[in-house]
Amino acid sequence: MEFLKVNSYKELSQKAADKVVKVIQENPHAALGLATGSTPVGLYENLVQAYQHGQVDFHKVKTFNLDEYVGIHQDHPQSYHQYMQKHLFQFINLKDDHVHIPDGETGDLEEECQRYERLLAKEGPIDLQILGLGINGHIGFNEPGTAFDARTHVVNLTDSTREANAKFFDTKEEVPKQAITMGIGNIMESREIILLAFGEHKQPAIKQLMEGEVYEDFPASALLQHDRVKVIYGEKDS
Ligand code: F6R
Repeated sequence: MEFLKVNSYKELSQKAADKVVKVIQENPHAALGLATGSTPVGLYENLVQAYQHGQVDFHKVKTFNLDEYVGIHQDHPQSYHQYMQKHLFQFINLKDDHVHIPDGETGDLEEECQRYERLLAKEGPIDLQILGLGINGHIGFNEPGTAFDARTHVVNLTDSTREANAKFFDTKEEVPKQAITMGIGNIMESREIILLAFGEHKQPAIKQLMEGEVYEDFPASALLQHDRVKVIYGEKDS
């Protein structure tokens, strides 16, 4: 695992975008694994700019989002479907049928997990997976205690995760209680991974990762067993 410390959120976003652009330039058919949340917003802004400046072409690229809330409509402003439209998809030339996000609205969640698994098996492996980091070490919505070989599954979100995500909703009660997420097993099959974390509140988790201990109560530590992971992190803008 390689650690790269940056001095600003801008630098983190630029470094991450440079990596994504490079992967697509080298392989126009690249499969990207995408995350939502606060951290990758700047990365997506930079990708839009790179596209507008003709530095990258998404028309053969395929995307697979890590997760989606259960029980809110795809058109809900806080759904991850909407997030991706708002920050990236509406601005670039990605084909609609190359976009994959778990469907958290379906009546049969187990079948949806199986469908996502079949899709990943057929279209994968993911060439570059982008990850954010939960303050409790979660990746995707794989909360502490999740088996490292878990596949796409339905999770009950922890209080800590619901609280962290409450900033996006009017009240904490509105934050969904469940999500569908790719499992750590899926994430580990990616050819390459970048893990992004910015802010003082993320530093304890980064420090824990640097200590190098692999255990299921700290999901991100699974990544220590992958040989192509780069952690791009920063404490504050200096
Ligand atoms: C989102 C996701 C989550 C976030 C994590 C960090 O798709 O998978 O694991 O990456 O909760 O969120 P932020 O970036 O908002 O701190």
